[in-house]
Amino acid sequence: MSDRETWTTRLGFILAAVGSAVGLGNLWQFPFKTGANGGAAFVVFYLIAVLFIGFPAMLAEFVLGRRTNVNAVDAFGELGHHGWRLVGGIGILTGFWILSYYNVVGGWVLRYILGSATGAYFGDPGGYFGAVSAGPEAVLAQAVFLALVVGIVALGIEDGIEKATTVMVPSIVVLMIALAAWVATLPGAGAGYAFFLSPDLGTMVDNAGSIIPFAVGQAFFTLSLGMAIMITYSSYVGEDDNLVFDGGIIVVMNTLVGVLAGLVVFPILLTIDYQITTTTGGPGALFVATASGFSSVPFGRLFGVVFFGVVLIAALSSAISLLEVSVAWANDNFGVSRPVLATGIGVGLFVLGLPSAWDTAWLTWFDNFAYQLFLPLSALLVVVFVGWVLGEDAVAELRQGTGGLGWFGPVWLWALRLVVVAGILATLGLGVETMFLGEDPAVVQPF
Ligand code: PFF
Repeated sequence: MSDRETWTTRLGFILAAVGSAVGLGNLWQFPFKTGANGGAAFVVFYLIAVLFIGFPAMLAEFVLGRRTNVNAVDAFGELGHHGWRLVGGIGILTGFWILSYYNVVGGWVLRYILGSATGAYFGDPGGYFGAVSAGPEAVLAQAVFLALVVGIVALGIEDGIEKATTVMVPSIVVLMIALAAWVATLPGAGAGYAFFLSPDLGTMVDNAGSIIPFAVGQAFFTLSLGMAIMITYSSYVGEDDNLVFDGGIIVVMNTLVGVLAGLVVFPILLTIDYQITTTTGGPGALFVATASGFSSVPFGRLFGVVFFGVVLIAALSSAISLLEVSVAWANDNFGVSRPVLATGIGVGLFVLGLPSAWDTAWLTWFDNFAYQLFLPLSALLVVVFVGWVLGEDAVAELRQGTGGLGWFGPVWLWALRLVVVAGILATLGLGVETMFLGEDPAVVQPF
């Protein structure tokens, strides 16, 4: 395995990981989860979850990847725990499952760039969403998006993923800042900021029990945890990198883009008096609501193209990280070239994505499974492994390249063992309840 690639620079790794983290989770789900869960109160819980649960869990994935320099399944075997390879398998399958419908949404984004340029959705934003989000048109758009993803991953770590994300991530940040500056001039800006940024203590206290699991789930999704991505990306990192520092930058950058997304989306929504309710968080929300906004403000076409262009870049830089997870596993195990593997896996993803492309109800069903069950389960098992099975060895690996961890080492380990495990269990508990128990279990009712 001596010819296994590595990132050419440390910045390359950081940007690729930020590119993975910043995605539809930030731009599509975060504003709407915030809207549906009480506005700024959700933001507060989310930030706490990112810091105390997501960040330690990300370092756990980094430790596994860098220690073993191998894909997420074989990492467990390298450490001598062959039975735990199953956990890596669950992570890879979770990622494959998520990517199957993520590509479909990526296809919608392509259609919305076109629709903004031509003004196609201006008369009837709801009708346009219905037309492009399901059926043959969605299948075609999914295939185009997927082809872009496969093309980048086929080129490899250095020439494909690293080069692409080095251009993509700075573009996302610059364009989002430009968009935020523009929406600040809209009439609904003040109301938008207030909704997003002024937490109401009463809402926080009254709804903590239900908001916390959502905030934890969102923290995992947005940081690309539980899908074997960070294990895979850190397997291309050298022993002299400071993982704590790198992880800190990734978390901060991801959070900043999430906040920027809120600063862009809410002023647009409140300008057009969009009613955000607990049921508006569905897959069409971002598309229909922001598209309605662009139809009714000056220079709407231009801003629509820029906005959905940013969403596309963010979705692509995330999707490549998830395809890389499966490709890395196959590449480490079979003597088949990367382009062939990327294409073959791409075809598999296309097929699994067909139901989601055909009907958005299936997409919601796939998303529910991933969000509520697979993701927390996979993350939980990784954290238990690193915290309780590796234990002090994990701290030793994390220490490499930092010049000494001091108090952070034991605090990290115990946070992982107790706080992170408890947070994920709460999320998983809620997920099992919504999926299998209660009046209207989501698992048996995709429609
Ligand atoms: N952190 C990513 C996001 O917020 O969109 C999570 C992700 C989902 C990464 C799907 C990759 C992916 F294909």
